[in-house]
Amino acid sequence: MSMLTRRHLLRQAALSATAATPAGAALGTVTAAAGATALTGCQSGDSAAPGEPAASPAARLHFPANFGWGAATSAYQIEGAAKEDGRGESVWDTFSRTPGRTRNGDTGDVAADHYHRYAEDLDLMRDLGLRSYRFSISWPRIQPDGTGAANQRGLDFYRRLVDGLHERGISPMATLFHWDLPQTLQDAGGWESRDVAYRFADYAATVFAALGDRVPVWLTINEPKTVVQNGYLYGHHAPGRQDPDAAYLVAHHLQLAHGLAVQALRAGGHGGRIGPAFNLHPCYPADDSSGATEATRLYDGYENRLYLDSALKGSYPEDVLADLGPTSRMVRGIRDGDLKIISSPIDLLAVQYYTPIYVTATGGTVRRWPTSEASWQQIYPDGMYDILTRVTRDYGSIPLTVTENGLPTPDVLAADGTVEDTGRVNFLRDHLAAAHRAVTDGVPLESFHVWSLLDNFEWAEGYDQRWGLIYVDYPTQRRVLKRSAHWYRQVIADNAL
Ligand code: FCB
Repeated sequence: MSMLTRRHLLRQAALSATAATPAGAALGTVTAAAGATALTGCQSGDSAAPGEPAASPAARLHFPANFGWGAATSAYQIEGAAKEDGRGESVWDTFSRTPGRTRNGDTGDVAADHYHRYAEDLDLMRDLGLRSYRFSISWPRIQPDGTGAANQRGLDFYRRLVDGLHERGISPMATLFHWDLPQTLQDAGGWESRDVAYRFADYAATVFAALGDRVPVWLTINEPKTVVQNGYLYGHHAPGRQDPDAAYLVAHHLQLAHGLAVQALRAGGHGGRIGPAFNLHPCYPADDSSGATEATRLYDGYENRLYLDSALKGSYPEDVLADLGPTSRMVRGIRDGDLKIISSPIDLLAVQYYTPIYVTATGGTVRRWPTSEASWQQIYPDGMYDILTRVTRDYGSIPLTVTENGLPTPDVLAADGTVEDTGRVNFLRDHLAAAHRAVTDGVPLESFHVWSLLDNFEWAEGYDQRWGLIYVDYPTQRRVLKRSAHWYRQVIADNAL
């Protein structure tokens, strides 16, 4: 494994240790395709300055008709009810209950208690005017041990949720896997085991059979890269490993599982659309040296092309494979026909954007923009434009949905019952403006989901980080619409920023 890869592994340490580089230093920005296709159904006026309201109706940024305004959550982060209705254990139950793994020892045992309060949460979604709700299905609720017959009570919960969405005119978007692998499958090798990809396809087929008639959009695997990096390189997510060679074998098996699930949907004759959910990080050289440009290229391979190329082009990037080396577990684990499965035709691609990455000539990283409460995040709205236009330029005009974008802020419930999260309003306005610019330049973006609908269990950060449009007062489980929720409701009603 090369020096660059080792650098890559140390990315997080570098991100938190390095001071910002001077503003105005040269950047190798990714630019939109020349001659991008013309805008359809979207008008653009002058953009408001960051943090300021739009000047006049004529100057507002209008989104295409039927734009899918949404919000996102995931099962382990909001549901709670960890031991109810036959749910099995997941790797996140094990991990969060292990002393020292999460902030304050927080677990998802109760979380936002959404399993019991889903009807109230559905009403809040309707009040916001959401048109799309992205949630995830908990594999251990459906198959407590990861295999075999379905647990009907688990399926019933998601049927109630999906029906409740339809009753309120909200379109369901279901993610099949948002990191809560059944613990029994982890005990059998987890994603290092090729067999788990086939178990995932069986689970997916079970879910499609039960809900395929009611869910129009399916997402296979949420952020495979985060499982690879946080779960198997750095070890601060479940299952808490630090093993680079295992990590990229896991990447291959996650991609294989994605492809098998796509095939399972088609085989079942269900009508829904399906695609993967990738967190993409635009990578820029930290300076104008040729070394930084070269290092950025490989960095981008690990961050983006590993997942995009395999799913959309049917090949892994040569530079990444060469860097991993022929004796790596991943390269040895690729079998004939795997890439064909992984690149099974998809209907849409889900993009999650939070931060850019700036890469130095030695493969390290530097910070260029202000960070948030999440130390890995730099606030750079133009990165949204760059990643959306890049995907369209490099992978063709596949329909896109943004399934996550958001900011943690230090939200406080004031005595008058308000939560003034103006930082989130500004962040979302700037990122939506960048998404709008991408649409104007021909990107087929059909929907946008704020992360998150509700404050929730932010993995290793526990409940300290609040990412929701809706404040959750955990001791009482009371929900309070933050200022950002009121703002978003108006954006949706106006279909414009
Ligand atoms: C993404 C995850 C999501 C949440 C946000 C902040 O990487 O998919 O569950 O943790 O980050």
